[in-house]
Amino acid sequence: MHTPSASGCAKVILFGEHAVVYGQPALAAALSKGARVHVVDDAAALTVEIPEWDVTARPDDGTRLGEALAAMAAVLEERAGEPPGGSLCVEFDVPVGAGLGSSAAMAVALARAMQPEADDALVLDVAAASERIFHGNPSGVDHTTSTLGGILRFRRGDEPPCVPLVGVAPIRLIIAQMEPGADTGEMVSGVREWLDREPEIVTQLLEWMGALTGQAEQALRQGDTPRLGRLMNLAHGALVSLGVSTPMLDRGCHAARRAGAWGAKLTGAGGGGCLIALASEASQRAVVEALEVEGAMRVLTTWAGAGRPSK
Ligand code: MEV
Repeated sequence: MHTPSASGCAKVILFGEHAVVYGQPALAAALSKGARVHVVDDAAALTVEIPEWDVTARPDDGTRLGEALAAMAAVLEERAGEPPGGSLCVEFDVPVGAGLGSSAAMAVALARAMQPEADDALVLDVAAASERIFHGNPSGVDHTTSTLGGILRFRRGDEPPCVPLVGVAPIRLIIAQMEPGADTGEMVSGVREWLDREPEIVTQLLEWMGALTGQAEQALRQGDTPRLGRLMNLAHGALVSLGVSTPMLDRGCHAARRAGAWGAKLTGAGGGGCLIALASEASQRAVVEALEVEGAMRVLTTWAGAGRPSK
């Protein structure tokens, strides 16, 4: 028995969440935190324990996590030739279900723990199988960012879908969890309903969000952080229009801007969860305090776009 561990990083979507499901580009950045998986007993049958949720799952035990495990094991068995086993324990150091890609981080860490020899292509396929169980129609941006790290542009349907923004420095972000998050699959379905009801205007909005992502990439490459912040404010407006923001997220964004942030927006699927704010070093403390006063559950200031996660 030995206890190696594997990790997958959490992520923030800087621009383009939801629009990315419909083929628009998104910008995402990996965080140095995320999920870590310890192999408790590598001789045991495949079992995953998540102490934080008080959950233990096995493939096909009827739970969603069990279903995800079965899907991941099937990909590994097909590609690596043998069924994965082991008693695995998952720990998170980011809030779960709050828009920071915790399910993708877990899937990537599990894939690496189940098959330590797996290359990125295999990890991506295994994690995708899990994300399809948890989110129905994932664009792939979450588990791609979690696997590859750094800051990247992602566009579903492009080959390859992901372009690392080489040479773009990590950015200092304030991340605030304003309230518990919502189910990503349900939020994605909500946007689908909007699109079905108002196809012309919602398609234009999604395309506009794609154009905004293009401008944001330019600002990032030029290191123009104040402009990046202004573009974040526009992105939040679009997400409000898509119906995925909440009064608490809106209040947090306003509070951050009032305290001097260049910009703030919700990040991830919305319906609750986290916002991100961009502020000068001189304003960061005031922004953090304003978010706490506004009732944030937790606020952290961190680098987004850190390098590859460790195996
Ligand atoms: C969730 O982190 C991001 C969404 O765009 C869904 C997806 O891309 O699969 C809301």
